[in-house]
Amino acid sequence: MRVALLTGGGDCPGLNAVIYAAVKKGINHYGDEFIGFLNGWRGVLDNNFIPLTLENTDGIQLKGGTILHSSRTNVKKIPGGIEKVQEVLKQNKIDALIALGGDDTQSVTLFLSENGVPSVGVPKTIDNDINGTDATFGFDTAVMIATEAIDRIHTTADSHNRVIVVEVMGRDAGWIAYASGVAAGAHVVLVPEKEIDIDHVCKLLKYNYDHGKHYGVVVVSEGCHLPSGGQVIGSKEVDSFGHVRLSGIGEALAELIEEKTGFETRSVNLGHTQRGGVPTAYDRLLGQRYGLHAIDMVHDKKWGRIAVLRGIEISDITIKEAIATNRRLDQRFFDVISSLEAKV
Ligand code: F6P
Repeated sequence: MRVALLTGGGDCPGLNAVIYAAVKKGINHYGDEFIGFLNGWRGVLDNNFIPLTLENTDGIQLKGGTILHSSRTNVKKIPGGIEKVQEVLKQNKIDALIALGGDDTQSVTLFLSENGVPSVGVPKTIDNDINGTDATFGFDTAVMIATEAIDRIHTTADSHNRVIVVEVMGRDAGWIAYASGVAAGAHVVLVPEKEIDIDHVCKLLKYNYDHGKHYGVVVVSEGCHLPSGGQVIGSKEVDSFGHVRLSGIGEALAELIEEKTGFETRSVNLGHTQRGGVPTAYDRLLGQRYGLHAIDMVHDKKWGRIAVLRGIEISDITIKEAIATNRRLDQRFFDVISSLEAKV
């Protein structure tokens, strides 16, 4: 078969591992040929691609980012977009398409597969919030990076008797804040699934100062709402899927904490450092397992389906189910956070 791959949406460590494994098994086991469209769906519309071979994918599973580059391009919004995609795929004699991406990218994959384009998906998001899968590659790396950063924040906050608020990624779900905050012993962990109770936050911090620890570390997801309501946005500009750029809740919260407690408070936004660099061993392995399953899905003609991790098994579900909702933290995780907080 002649198979095309693309990577859409925000990048994350492990994308290259998926590409590597799909190409390797496809060529060696099935005798496939591959091309990779550049810059996500944009590359399909522009007919911009590179051949993917055993030679040019050799060793890429160790590398961060995506050798295919990425964009947030919404084919559904482009007049004639679907026709253009069909034409380009036909022109390049593509038998199947593997799209690596989050819910936005996969909404396009679903749309295309419902319109006669043989396609399958691989779930991708640093936020780890795709429905139906226990983990997405890149998340483990992001948690490791954030944990190391928060570890470092502890010592400088301690030296200066300060509160430091660390903002991490997570638009709709607080997986990164939860995992890195708990792993790094943050005193307060705030996630979008729960309203921020600012009085409780201040009480937790005051507890530290009253009990001989004159500093505090707060971890907050970018998607949290302010206690007064509303998210903090870095720019009103929206992407082609209608998302604003979230940024600044950490800074806003730091101001509020300082005002309410009198403790000197600073903030740091970890931003894109969480998505950069080499994947952890876990993410390299998970990415490769997704890649192997994706090429099997192609040969099994599982169009409109997406690879998922359930427990320790890789299987697949419909893309429709995967993008129907976000996988969010629930009471079990809130209990972990609250059980590890000071008793105030
Ligand atoms: O969706 C993943 C994500 O990393 C979010 O956590 C974040 O809000 C967004 O992407 C950032 O997107 P961009 O790289 O386009 O600014």
